Amino acid sequence: MANHKVVCWDCGAEVADPYVTVCPKCGGLLTVKMDLEPIKEMRPEDLQKTPLGVWRYAPFMPVDPAHKVSIQEGGTPLYKTDALSAEIGVKQAYVKFEGLNPTGSFKDRGMTVGVSHAKELGAKVVGCASTGNTSASLAAYASKAGIKCAVFLPSGKVAAGKLAQALFFGAKVLSIDGNFDDALALARKMSDERKLYLLNSINPYRPEGQKSVLFEIIDQLKFDVPDRVILPVGNAANIWAIYKACMELKEVGWIDKVPMLTGIQAEGAAPVAKAFRAKSKDFIPEEHPETVATAIRIGNPVSGRKALHAIYDTNGYAETVTDAEIIAAQQLLGRREGVCVEPASAASVAGLKKLRENGVIDRDERVVCICTGNGLKDPDTIIANSPAPIKCKNSVEDVERILSE
Ligand code: F0G
Repeated sequence: MANHKVVCWDCGAEVADPYVTVCPKCGGLLTVKMDLEPIKEMRPEDLQKTPLGVWRYAPFMPVDPAHKVSIQEGGTPLYKTDALSAEIGVKQAYVKFEGLNPTGSFKDRGMTVGVSHAKELGAKVVGCASTGNTSASLAAYASKAGIKCAVFLPSGKVAAGKLAQALFFGAKVLSIDGNFDDALALARKMSDERKLYLLNSINPYRPEGQKSVLFEIIDQLKFDVPDRVILPVGNAANIWAIYKACMELKEVGWIDKVPMLTGIQAEGAAPVAKAFRAKSKDFIPEEHPETVATAIRIGNPVSGRKALHAIYDTNGYAETVTDAEIIAAQQLLGRREGVCVEPASAASVAGLKKLRENGVIDRDERVVCICTGNGLKDPDTIIANSPAPIKCKNSVEDVERILSE
């Protein structure tokens, strides 16, 4: 018997058709309701026998692990970043480095569950729109599952490493004349006509896998729940997934406190942060999102309302950061902590710095920044913001001259 059902987040109606992406009754967003009763009989130690990673938390996942399509996702490091803590002036900052997932971003957590479910359904074609990482991840998992894959990308706005991955894994890579929101609209049309099984995060199975990042953080901190978790927000599903994980851990009685969930957006693509500023439960889409953090260059976030709920319900916060603040935070992580994250991921650290400076974050807080993707995904941005290589003659003297400068 299934351990879950799919329901409408807005009206509560149960949804049986796996190909619909919104509630057939009210058009609302879908979500998975897990049966947590069997987990209430368990202890965290029961799961800790399995290696750290998404499938350690199989009882919280809405697929039968017997059908799993996995390339060992999750199990990423939680760095205790002391230099960053000192620089920013907080009791303890940690970085959960999601760039060490199989395809270099947190998307693999959702994709292992989403593609496993697609396989259970017998889907013949899977697809997604993407700013880059989702397409790289889906292309890899579709290869592993042996399912045909099409990805819809905003033309000219996908970082080189991500585009290379989607091509490399053999997906049909469609370059769409428009931004991410346009690409998603087309992918959804294909899904509505049942021409592909859509694996964007509007598919409620995807966030289920993404819950695992919060489970891992809590495990890695030995159930000493952090005060705050900060993450970048684009299409807004990840913050929802993390909220859902918090609620489920609370419901099974494994934690009694929930971190303040704090979403960071780029100033040029900030519908959720602006809604938060206006104390609104809903957001106003932005027509021309723009930011150096192309992963979160999104104006009409599908899960924006869920994200706002997650933020309000955990007494969290939403803030914007400029492109310059993003690049400065990316370089700070590289030069003080030896961690190379992509610009969108650096938004979390830029947000931590800004919220500490303006007093929203207290000096006494223990904060986890989720750095969602690997810096190698976007080498062009790194090179554009770094000094040029130094011309050097083939001589010891010239090297010495340069090193002494
Ligand atoms: N960080 C990175 C590196 C991302 O790739 C994304 C989203 C986010 C943060 C935001 O997460 O959408 O759940 O709020 N990337 C999607 C993609 C949109 O297509 O790869 P979100």
